[in-house]
Amino acid sequence: MLILAFESSCDETAVAVVRDGRTVLSDAILSQADMHAIYGGVVPEIASRKHIEGIAALTDQALKEAGVTREDIDAVAVTCGPGLIGALLVGVNFAKSVAYALGKPLIPVHHLRGHIAANYIAFPELEPPFLALCISGGNSMLVNVQGYTEMNIVGATRDDAAGECFDKVARVLGLPYPGGKPMEELARGGDDCAYVLPRSHVADSDLDMSFSGLKTAVVNLVHNAAQKGEPLDRPGLAASFAAAVSDELVPRAILAAKRYGHHTVVAAGGVAANSRIRSDLERACRENGLRLFLPPLKLCGDNGAMIGCQAYYESRCLHYADMSLNAYANLEI
Ligand code: KG4
Repeated sequence: MLILAFESSCDETAVAVVRDGRTVLSDAILSQADMHAIYGGVVPEIASRKHIEGIAALTDQALKEAGVTREDIDAVAVTCGPGLIGALLVGVNFAKSVAYALGKPLIPVHHLRGHIAANYIAFPELEPPFLALCISGGNSMLVNVQGYTEMNIVGATRDDAAGECFDKVARVLGLPYPGGKPMEELARGGDDCAYVLPRSHVADSDLDMSFSGLKTAVVNLVHNAAQKGEPLDRPGLAASFAAAVSDELVPRAILAAKRYGHHTVVAAGGVAANSRIRSDLERACRENGLRLFLPPLKLCGDNGAMIGCQAYYESRCLHYADMSLNAYANLEI
């Protein structure tokens, strides 16, 4: 089954052609990050406009790179949420028009299900059940994945997402958007004990997390140092920050895996590219006898291939949509 998949939930326009869920024939991505970097974050209106400008040519590119024609496509898939509503609407309406014009079924895909599915592309042997740690720019959650299309959230951030926290701290340190990668580069060689940063405790749920206190602590620390004219150990602060984020995520992922009887942990989303989090996960899984799957860096961020992959499994359960499909800024997994 050949699926043409669209992703436009944030600042990446992506179109992919995927065969039978796991074989990626093409994965064309047009990133707008440079444009948004000028403003220090994603400007939703600009994101929508850039998706409109790029999506048609990117579709031609994806088909060409896959070596297939429109007529070869069996189904059209699209991210319908969660994400920026204007950005999502571009992908959803474009996919609807392609499906209508080709007379092919339309498959709606949840963005985070897509992030989890990125692992099926990288690891042919991976199958549910497992515990997924989904950490991206807009979401941070622990997902109990019982089947390809059966899953539920068992823990989540109560405020900021991990990626959002990386981006905001990077901004206060004068680093470009998106801040995750520059923060990681700054942290290299830094002492992760240089600063004592808070770890959260969510009173009524040991699997829920919180990043806003950590973010505020770093912002205040940077501002205080600037006001007093005190020097800042920037690599030390970046390393201490990464350690604090990792401490928020990794022990909870292990706890959730054990609580829900999983032997496998899977990481997903843009923040899963972070080397500190990856190495902490590796160590913790090893110590607890859990199998760990870490997606390759190019599959951590937003892409169309992961949508085409998940769409295959949605189609096996006949999860199709008609032309009334809408986009949703918030959407249950
Ligand atoms: O999954 P993604 O590409 O988009 C969403 O679906 O949100 O995630 C983007 C987020 C951004 O906040 C970015 O700063 C973060 O992932 N990120 C990282 C790293 N690379 C990207 N965070 C920490 N370390 C990284 N190496």
